[in-house]
Amino acid sequence: MNLLSVADLPLEDLERILKKADDFAPGVGDPTAIHREKTLALLFFEDSTRTRVSFERAAKRLKMEVMNFSVGGSSMSKGESLRDTVKTIEATGIDVVVMRHQASGAPWQVASWIKSSVINAGDGWHEHPTQALLDCYTIRKATGVIEGLHVVIVGDIKHSRVARSNVLALSRLGADVTIVAPYTLLPPNIDSWPVWVSQDLDVVIPKADVIYMLRMQRERQTASLVPSLREYTASYGLTAERAECLPENAVIMHPGPMNLGVEISADVADLPCSLITTQVKHGVAVRAALLHEIL
Ligand code: NCD
Repeated sequence: MNLLSVADLPLEDLERILKKADDFAPGVGDPTAIHREKTLALLFFEDSTRTRVSFERAAKRLKMEVMNFSVGGSSMSKGESLRDTVKTIEATGIDVVVMRHQASGAPWQVASWIKSSVINAGDGWHEHPTQALLDCYTIRKATGVIEGLHVVIVGDIKHSRVARSNVLALSRLGADVTIVAPYTLLPPNIDSWPVWVSQDLDVVIPKADVIYMLRMQRERQTASLVPSLREYTASYGLTAERAECLPENAVIMHPGPMNLGVEISADVADLPCSLITTQVKHGVAVRAALLHEIL
């Protein structure tokens, strides 16, 4: 079994993994399901803090062996292809490959070359399914339900794999999703997404149950898509003033890494209703549940 896209997960699988995550939360004792004889390979061709550490901790919850591959220092610098690299790694005895790559679709190619299971930990602008799983888990833990919730996703939607995967997962679980972004940061096919679209954050904020802020993905932007970061923050940043207009029980989320002072201010990120650290914590449990499901 692979997890390449949220689209691979029918509702019952999605629900089962979210339910199973409760058994794998750090600090609730050793899980009974262990996979001592299994090996996980982390293949990160793009930088990561949370996702990489979280998968490593998740695998260790299951007592798996973890193999960390770093591109720098490997034979890829001598011109070895991605195909030969992953086949070489697999030949050492690997059960699950977790990969992040700057090219959209790369995990699908890798999955066609090897027999091990492949988990997409982010491919270009395309998808980041485990981020969506941990976000759904976090929302459900905080609010009790997802069905009927109004989730507002704000920022650089065009370049965000987190937004793509979350929209798929949240809409499958019955949430109403509104996207708030300037036209230049919307994907060209936004009309086919199951979402409402707005350019006015101040109108949407008082109706949000969850407000999910995204980073400006400047490393993926090829043109100047906003007049200036200051103007972007003025219209689309979650400032303390805007956070005050959220409904009483609303929660604030961000996948990290944050650009403090751009899409979210430092004081807002630290509010009691901010789930940003909880998202990271839940990432370990959800990924352990997913690994257990795959194995
Ligand atoms: C995100 C990513 O890398 O896609 N971060 C993450 O995995 N938690 C979002 C981002 O980089 O902005």
